[in-house]
Amino acid sequence: MNVDYAGQKPILEMKDIKKEFSGVYALSGITFDLYKGEIHCLCGENGAGKSTLMKVLSGAYRPSGGKICFEGKEYDTLTPALSKELGVNIVYQENDLVPSMSVTENIYVGNEASKKFGFIDYKKMRGETMAQMKDLGIELNPDTKIEDLSVADQQFVKILKALSVEPRILIMDEPTSMFNVEDAAKVLKLTRKITERGIAIIYISHFLNEVVQIADRVTIIRDGAVVNTYRNEHRDISISTITKDMVGRPVDTFYKKEKCRIGEVVLEVKDLQLTKDSPKVSFQVRQGEILGFSGMVGAGRTEIVRALTGADPKYGGHIYIRGREVQIKNPSDSIAQGFAHITEDRQKLGLMLGGSVLENTTIIGLRSKIKGWFVNIKKHPPLVEGIIRDLHVKTPSIWTEAIYLSGGNQQKVVLAKWLYADQEIYIFDEPTRGIDVNAKAEFYKQMSALTAQGKCIIMISSDMPELISMSDRVLVIRDGAVDGELSGEQINEHEIIKRALGVKKHE
Ligand SMILES: Nc1ncnc2c1ncn2[C@@H]1O[C@H](COP(=O)(O)OP(=O)(O)OP(=O)(O)O)[C@@H](O)[C@H]1O
Ligand SMILES: [Mg+2]
Repeated sequence: MNVDYAGQKPILEMKDIKKEFSGVYALSGITFDLYKGEIHCLCGENGAGKSTLMKVLSGAYRPSGGKICFEGKEYDTLTPALSKELGVNIVYQENDLVPSMSVTENIYVGNEASKKFGFIDYKKMRGETMAQMKDLGIELNPDTKIEDLSVADQQFVKILKALSVEPRILIMDEPTSMFNVEDAAKVLKLTRKITERGIAIIYISHFLNEVVQIADRVTIIRDGAVVNTYRNEHRDISISTITKDMVGRPVDTFYKKEKCRIGEVVLEVKDLQLTKDSPKVSFQVRQGEILGFSGMVGAGRTEIVRALTGADPKYGGHIYIRGREVQIKNPSDSIAQGFAHITEDRQKLGLMLGGSVLENTTIIGLRSKIKGWFVNIKKHPPLVEGIIRDLHVKTPSIWTEAIYLSGGNQQKVVLAKWLYADQEIYIFDEPTRGIDVNAKAEFYKQMSALTAQGKCIIMISSDMPELISMSDRVLVIRDGAVDGELSGEQINEHEIIKRALGVKKHE
């Protein structure tokens, strides 16, 4: 919808908002406004203050200064209840759905939206769910259990749930970070559709190509302050304008793996089977090589590497490292055999949130670097500082607990941990999801450096440019099986999508 910026007043104005955490300002005076029916994108590097600003708006944080103004009425602070009452709702990045309950139940039950129907009236709620889905062009069965839905469909349910309370302002914090290109396009279309109801959307994403397509306005923040707000009605803002404001200097967003010598086979996986009935998976990775795993979300890529590294049990198959068969029954076996596995779900699986940045970074690597049993890591900060600096981890110090870092910076700590661990076979599962452009480029450099040292990498990625520019070879995974291999010129977007969707090879 076309937003009338001149003829109407904003429905929300956040004026000079400050937020301090133990003496450090995460927000140092942010002014941000929002008009009915617009999509206002919020961009900034990891740790810039995007989530913090949204927490002030949702009433989770009390600001240290500034005013929040809803249609002329001013507040010094909000509570979660007041924020909801004023019409603000968030689509959380974390999954807050109940897996064993149906789509309808998740949208209404135990949610204030159910009050609309009086005492729980499932039939009415189901009818309303169907009507909502029809209106928004979502095709889902309202009785399906959440656990039987794809990640993308679960995201639609989260959006429907947020809409069920009929908000006036909807916050979407990295809504497409779990998606492949096609599903992301569906979410973008849905987001547009939502604004037709007059709902205003605050949209946070590190996918800047999405931002330039979808935003009516873009506000860029750096170090807790606004750098610029741009109008984008003509869809003419460029990614480089945004990145320059985010980082403070022009950024080369294109990075290609440096050529290095591909050597002997390091890892060979033969007939790996997850269950009795699942397909047999075989592949090799060579010294200095990056092997990309492409495929739709849910194609079974994560499951294959989880079985390989002993995170999940496997039914059968053989694993050879430099020609010698090895037994991997659990993740510690895999670490002992030289694997580094950077999982998809970093917060849950990759970090001790209560531990410091230093502890998290060194937990695996230190054993091999410093001899002796009783290692006092507190004596070895210099070993870590280089990596933390290289990856641009924004943290007050290496002694800060991981829980206090922003989402993207927590991910960087997990990457730092494995880089520091100095393993031989690296498995990266969606490594740069949620990471800002600047750190992405740095991370690619680090990947190149690993291969130059003769290590090998398996990279699962739904980020097409990343897969194309970094992989030496790409395996297409479909329905848990290796469905094809691409190399050289074949590694292009058209070919990858065609294969992943299962279009016949000789068409
Ligand atoms: N509860 C807290 N205590 C201390 N510091 C915090 C807390 N929450 C956030 N911070 C700090 O505030 C800054 C802004 O963090 P915020 O989560 O808002 O970043 P972000 O822009 O959302 O980044 P990302 O893209 O990584 O999600 C960071 O430096 C972070 O370490
Ligand atoms: Mg954030």
